[in-house]
Amino acid sequence: MVRFHFVLIFFLCYILSPLPSAATPTNKLVDKVCNQTSNYTFCVEALYSDPRTPAADAYQLAYVSFGLAYLNASATQDHIAELIKISNSTSASHKRLKICQHDYHKAVLALEEAYNDLNSETFFQLAKLAARAAAAADDCQSAFRGTHYSPLATRNAYLKALSDICVVVSKLFTEGTF
Ligand SMILES: *[C@@H]1O[C@H](CO)[C@@H](O)[C@H](O)[C@H]1NC(C)=O
Ligand SMILES: *[C@@H]1O[C@H](CO)[C@@H](O)[C@H](O)[C@H]1NC(C)=O
Ligand SMILES: *[C@@H]1O[C@H](CO)[C@@H](O)[C@H](O)[C@H]1NC(C)=O
Ligand SMILES: *[C@@H]1O[C@H](CO)[C@@H](O)[C@H](O)[C@H]1NC(C)=O
Repeated sequence: MVRFHFVLIFFLCYILSPLPSAATPTNKLVDKVCNQTSNYTFCVEALYSDPRTPAADAYQLAYVSFGLAYLNASATQDHIAELIKISNSTSASHKRLKICQHDYHKAVLALEEAYNDLNSETFFQLAKLAARAAAAADDCQSAFRGTHYSPLATRNAYLKALSDICVVVSKLFTEGTF
């Protein structure tokens, strides 16, 4: 009988305990942020790719999201430099890539500025800087409008989606204060 109780109590503790499950990390702030983006699934996957996210507050989430956008933008900037190197300098595609190079330069600068702002706890222009990165992705995408193939379509979509997350996170700092 005693042993039965022990087993029963152990079992109840097990099923009732709010043990964090590794498979489903949850941070209510992430839900709130991602709910305001155009692709909830993408947002959740991107943010939880960083180990700080499950326990992140707004400030840490800003570091995570701007960090993701910055890494993506600078990786694409490097990729564009490679594409330009191998492209025929008189081709139309070369001209489009040059436009994108300029766009991504602007995006990387904006995201670097945002990072410096975070370091100095200056929040008021974060949303504007994130929007600038999103606009750069849009501008690069439209440089290939009317062509059959944009070599940067996927990367533009990533930067756009990551910047949109940054815009929403930035608003956490200004909500109610403006
Ligand atoms: C997500 O957004 C919907 C409507 O846009 C709202 O009803 C819901 O409460 C939101 N959920 C969270 C967790 O913010
Ligand atoms: C949303 O993101 C997920 C995961 O990244 C992707 O599989 C899906 O196609 C996206 N949906 C839309 C509508 O873009
Ligand atoms: C860019 O972002 C996407 C989506 O989060 C990710 O799959 C990809 O690995 C990122 N690339 C870099 C270089 O950060
Ligand atoms: C580059 O493009 C021009 C015009 O489209 C063409 O005449 C030239 O042969 C190309 N050069 C190479 C190396 O492909």
